[in-house]
Amino acid sequence: MTSCEIRESFAIDVGTIPNPNLFMTGLMINGFRYRSLIKTIEEEEPLFDGAILRKLDFSSTNAKFNPKISPEHPGENLIMRPLCPADYARGFVELLRQLTKVGDVSQEDFIARYKSMKACPDTYYLVVIVDVNVDRVVGAATMAIENKFIHRCATRGRIEDVVVCNEMRGKQLGKLLVETMLKLSEYIGCYKTTLDCKDAMIPFYQQLGLHPEPGNNFMVKRFHE
Ligand SMILES: CC(C)(COP(=O)(O)OP(=O)(O)OC[C@H]1O[C@@H](n2cnc3c(N)ncnc32)[C@H](O)[C@@H]1OP(=O)(O)O)[C@@H](O)C(=O)NCCC(=O)NCCS
Repeated sequence: MTSCEIRESFAIDVGTIPNPNLFMTGLMINGFRYRSLIKTIEEEEPLFDGAILRKLDFSSTNAKFNPKISPEHPGENLIMRPLCPADYARGFVELLRQLTKVGDVSQEDFIARYKSMKACPDTYYLVVIVDVNVDRVVGAATMAIENKFIHRCATRGRIEDVVVCNEMRGKQLGKLLVETMLKLSEYIGCYKTTLDCKDAMIPFYQQLGLHPEPGNNFMVKRFHE
């Protein structure tokens, strides 16, 4: 098997190609530009309206960011945005393997799950960070909204599946993902937002304003792994 080096990715303006429903993206591999990755607008359809991420107030944060980063400016060559179907090809599922067992998830499985989430508006907020240089998903987090009758028909948030790829750890992206999920849940109007984590992760989340609540426990009954 030959190895190859990916040097750059590029995007061509939709106006320059005949079919306006196509985005054409590509990669520079071993000095040759490949325009093989053609993505339709449907494949790039965000799970939710990404404009909400730009409305979040990052002027003050629980996390200490040095240098300052935000959903609009996550870092050089990085973008933060809602999950879209084309993120399967960008390695979203592979990234999740760095968090936990994922099992076999085909593109069809992924699209079916994406569509089921999309069919529940204002419920699933899956955010990804993409390195546009290599067109790969390098970070992700989920916030799921639960609508309740208690507390005057209140809404609560649950943060799940926070992960940053090995190569990009230590660049504040984990903090940015969690801070974004917290600000998003506050913006939506949640009365509280929770997450489950291993003991070793408590210090990471504490610096972001989350804390274990005395007297409250996390209970679970597992039906299979
Ligand atoms: C946890 C994780 C998301 C952190 O991502 P990251 O981008 O490396 O984190 P950041 O660069 O934003 O780190 C921020 C701070 O948290 C600290 N930190 C990072 N990982 C930590 C950990 N596992 N435990 C305690 N503190 C941690 C860092 O030291 C850093 O501290 P500083 O700001 O004082 O320098 C990443 O390590 C990861 O994906 N791990 C595997 C999946 C996982 O365990 N997810 C959490 C499930 S609950």
